[in-house]
Amino acid sequence: MKIGIFDSGIGGLTVLAELIKKYPNNKYYYFGDNINAPYGTKSKEELLKLSNKIINFLNKKDVDLIIVACGTISSNVFDKLPKDTKIYDVISPTIDYINNSNYENIGLIGTNMTIKSKTFEKRINKKIIARSCNDFVPYIENEQSLTDIIPKYMNIFKDKVDVLILGCTHYPIIEKELNDYLDSKIPLINMGTILADSLKLGNKEKQIRLYFSKVNHTLISNIDKIIKEKYYLEEVVLED
Ligand code: DGL
Repeated sequence: MKIGIFDSGIGGLTVLAELIKKYPNNKYYYFGDNINAPYGTKSKEELLKLSNKIINFLNKKDVDLIIVACGTISSNVFDKLPKDTKIYDVISPTIDYINNSNYENIGLIGTNMTIKSKTFEKRINKKIIARSCNDFVPYIENEQSLTDIIPKYMNIFKDKVDVLILGCTHYPIIEKELNDYLDSKIPLINMGTILADSLKLGNKEKQIRLYFSKVNHTLISNIDKIIKEKYYLEEVVLED
């Protein structure tokens, strides 16, 4: 089975890693638009335009299904994306999971656009404390330490929530730093894990192909921290 996955940069690799864990033998085609990252501050029009270009690219690779491994696109423009290839958003399985859980006080962190969309609040019938963490994605993409900026964003959650949704797929990359600050007292929800559990994929032949709009040393170092398998990597300029 050929599976297309995309995000603004390395964030969706956390989803890919969860899929590989559960279904190691598939053909994965990943596109990371790191030249245009971050997506979290872009308008809906821009998000739609970029998503359409990426979906076009993945369709040319003949993928059987596409996973939108981006919380920002999933919560803002998913309904407007072309549906000729089967397409899954990354947030719905997490929303279902939280609705069916015993958690009552929910924490949510995400990008500006994800939090502004209020998509989680509209679809989850529980008390939500939400915070956009604007600086996180550029820091993560550039491999900068977040230790100094984490308290500013995370202090509102201490002793206030039973669980914290990592509403941006970049955030599992800094899971350790978040846990350190929260003294590991709040379970963190990785949307990729819940998505992988919700899917039923084949398991035949292994191939991991990664395409990024900009390839450099920082990118490779980031990929190697997340993807522990052998992969093919190529820089690609998207067509209009
Ligand atoms: N990883 C994406 C998300 O889940 C995009 C983050 C960004 O580029 O701002 O929202």
